[in-house]
Amino acid sequence: MQRIPEEKIDEIRSQADIVDVVGSYVQLKKQGRNYTGLCPFHGEKTPSFSVSPEKQIFHCFGCGKGGNVFSFLMQIDGLSFVESVKKVADMAHIPLDIEISSGDGTPANRPDSQEGKMIEIHQLTSKLYHYLLMETEEGQEALQYLLDRGMSEQELDHFEIGFAPADALTVTTFLKKREVDLPLAVECGLLTERDDGNIVDRFRNRIMFPIKNDRGQMVGFSGRLFNQEDGPKYLNSPETPIFNKRNILYHFSDARQEIRKKEEILLLEGYMDVISGVSADFQNGVASMGTSLTEEHVQMIRRVTNRAIICYDGDRAGIEASFKAGTLLAEQHRLEVFVLQLPNGKDPDDFIRSEGAEKFAEVYAHQRLSWTAFKLQFLRRNRNLQNETDKIAYLGEALVEIGKLDQAVERELYLKQLGSEFELSMEALKQQLQQSVATTVKPKTRDYGGPPPEDFGDYPVYDSGGGPVYEGFHFQQPTQAPSAGLTSEKRLLKYMLEDRDAFIQIRNMMQEQEIDFYHDNYQALYTHLIGFYASGNDANPLALMDQLPNEVSRNLVSELEMMVVNTDVTNEEYQDYIFSLRKAGIERDIKEKEQQLLVASQQGEMALALELARTITTMRADLKRNI
Ligand code: GTP
Ligand code: MN
Repeated sequence: MQRIPEEKIDEIRSQADIVDVVGSYVQLKKQGRNYTGLCPFHGEKTPSFSVSPEKQIFHCFGCGKGGNVFSFLMQIDGLSFVESVKKVADMAHIPLDIEISSGDGTPANRPDSQEGKMIEIHQLTSKLYHYLLMETEEGQEALQYLLDRGMSEQELDHFEIGFAPADALTVTTFLKKREVDLPLAVECGLLTERDDGNIVDRFRNRIMFPIKNDRGQMVGFSGRLFNQEDGPKYLNSPETPIFNKRNILYHFSDARQEIRKKEEILLLEGYMDVISGVSADFQNGVASMGTSLTEEHVQMIRRVTNRAIICYDGDRAGIEASFKAGTLLAEQHRLEVFVLQLPNGKDPDDFIRSEGAEKFAEVYAHQRLSWTAFKLQFLRRNRNLQNETDKIAYLGEALVEIGKLDQAVERELYLKQLGSEFELSMEALKQQLQQSVATTVKPKTRDYGGPPPEDFGDYPVYDSGGGPVYEGFHFQQPTQAPSAGLTSEKRLLKYMLEDRDAFIQIRNMMQEQEIDFYHDNYQALYTHLIGFYASGNDANPLALMDQLPNEVSRNLVSELEMMVVNTDVTNEEYQDYIFSLRKAGIERDIKEKEQQLLVASQQGEMALALELARTITTMRADLKRNI
């Protein structure tokens, strides 16, 4: 594994902003000094995930996960430490001259697993396909087709588009030479086994689009016909342990940052639309793999944004699909939805290539229909509004739609439109609306997974009567009635984490009085801290996190970092905490002895019982002395 110098890591860590990095995966909302959002590591409806720009850490009070910018990426993208450093450096535009070899295992959290190997096979094959397209005679015709459609070589490189030749043994031979496990490549759907037992390529004579999952790992392909019509236009990888169309959105991992920036996702129909979108500077575009939008897709989307712009093909099928996707997003999940309809039934790819990027940007910005406006328009299709029956049916449905709107001004707006179009008085419409609202169920509030962000406000730091206090969380008590001992452990460790002198002071006091931390994970962190300071480091919780061997300790550091404590502490206060730690220890011992006493007396071992009773009395006295 490649080593990055310590100073470089420090530099990268100090220049990156964890809010930006986490913010491209999680919708964050400023709350007091921190940012909060829905935890990406466990399902939750109210946000208990917190990011501190000051401390540069994240911590979830729901599932306990926490860490710094590197550990966040390691966990969410399944990267190795080195890869996460590289990724942060890239995001912060800090040059870092290391090549991460594939031997490092890109799905580094499980490089030797079956899945890790499958991803590697995809990467390897994709390189071959891309080379065949760009550099070889046999790829020439496919390359020409793509160039004729207006794609640049740069785009082809960027999307790693490739070519699978007609010859049935190209990939098979290549993978065999690379000593790849062929049955595994068959399981990937890259090769197939013929009836006669021979293994051959599955994709033949197609333009190849590599498909990545939401972590940016290559998990499948989609191959497009280009010079003949025999077979389906697109052939996808089959379902495999790593590839499931229900949770894949083409370009999602690369779009994520821009989705956060623009605060909206652009939903497109085809790969070509996504690619043209990027060429027009719309990096927030994604496409499902020819399936309609699924529940899983919506969950992926919701984690990054509340607003979706649907821009499907302008033909009939595209409009129907927009309706379906919009209904799922806007009505079932309460996202804010807009629909872009391109003129003359064009798809975004056609439109951008023929009308230009600027024109598309203009339509994108100014001609989007709100979900209600689109729906009102959609409800008219197949209806002849000159016909009285059709008209009344339409008005009824339209009023139901308008009645669903939360805002009075919005309702007013659409009522006015209806009024002027059908020459009806506002009064009559409003009356009608009242009636239709009364008969329809009230819509639920927007699905932010909790209280709507607008209502968060700035909450004061709460103090749960001596328990630990955390910045920005008032609606959920992080720890259930923490004991005085636990709170003292937290505070002592927190001071030790943040200040070397405090560490020395507290350690000396604890050693003198022969006190240890009560909970194993606290004691473990304490031990690491001793090692950390012993190797000459100054206080640096972020750097410490990178050195901690396990998640439990890292999570504890981030939790402690999120705690708000008085920084102006005297030795007497340390001593108080140590006392209460000691007290907690004695109390625990007393309980233990009492248990033993009970057993001893039940079993008639009177001598032992007597001795235990004496010990307990001494311990009780000891307990009193220290208060
Ligand atoms: P071009 O037609 O080259 O512009 O490509 P496109 O990606 O825009 O395709 P199109 O608009 O015809 O279809 C939209 C999406 O539907 C594609 O990107 C595919 O994901 C999917 N799709 C289209 N045809 C097929 C097919 O025959 N099989 C499968 N599995 N998916 C298809
Ligand atoms: Mn198309």
